[in-house]
Amino acid sequence: MDCIDQVLNRRSIRRFKDEPVSEEVINNILEAGRRAPTATNQQPWHFVVARDYAEKEACTYGGFNRFATDAAFVVVGLYRQSEVIIEKLSLMDVTIALQNMVVAAWVQGAGSCWMGAFDESKLRDTLSLPADARIVGAVAFGIPDENPSQPPKKPLSETVHLDKW
Ligand SMILES: Cc1cc2nc3c(=O)[nH]c(=O)nc-3n(C[C@H](O)[C@H](O)[C@H](O)COP(=O)(O)O)c2cc1C
Repeated sequence: MDCIDQVLNRRSIRRFKDEPVSEEVINNILEAGRRAPTATNQQPWHFVVARDYAEKEACTYGGFNRFATDAAFVVVGLYRQSEVIIEKLSLMDVTIALQNMVVAAWVQGAGSCWMGAFDESKLRDTLSLPADARIVGAVAFGIPDENPSQPPKKPLSETVHLDKW
């Protein structure tokens, strides 16, 4: 499949096979984050790669995101307030880096799902995060065990405003 088809057909994956993701693929995923665009090349991000059950379980949120424990690993993206000047840009940077990882995973046959719902204090404690860590999001990664169809997407005509609103 062409690269553009892969990007256009990416899906969030919430069922994972009980199979590891190869070290090469994991490394490429993390490299895609490392090489993501970042405001003034600040690279304010830190990524915690949760591989053990307790750390992955900490990424669940009540009954939500139980699939995190079946993921091969979860990447928690954060920045440290003490290291950044403009937090809004750091929020963008970490988000972009995580999404670069999502796309890099997909084109290598690994699936993923963003997790915006998490218990910040549980994650902070379980992952031993520094006090000034601001968690942006978490993404569960693994070998897909489902092939979901595309959820409804708004047409470009509703969301793209050419030149002016
Ligand atoms: C910022 C963000 C937060 C999300 N949080 C969750 C989440 O907590 N749990 C979940 O199952 N999916 C979560 N998702 C995945 C969305 O539900 C999914 O992207 C959306 O339904 C569109 O499906 P698609 O990714 O297959 O196109 C999140 C996605 C984004 C971008």
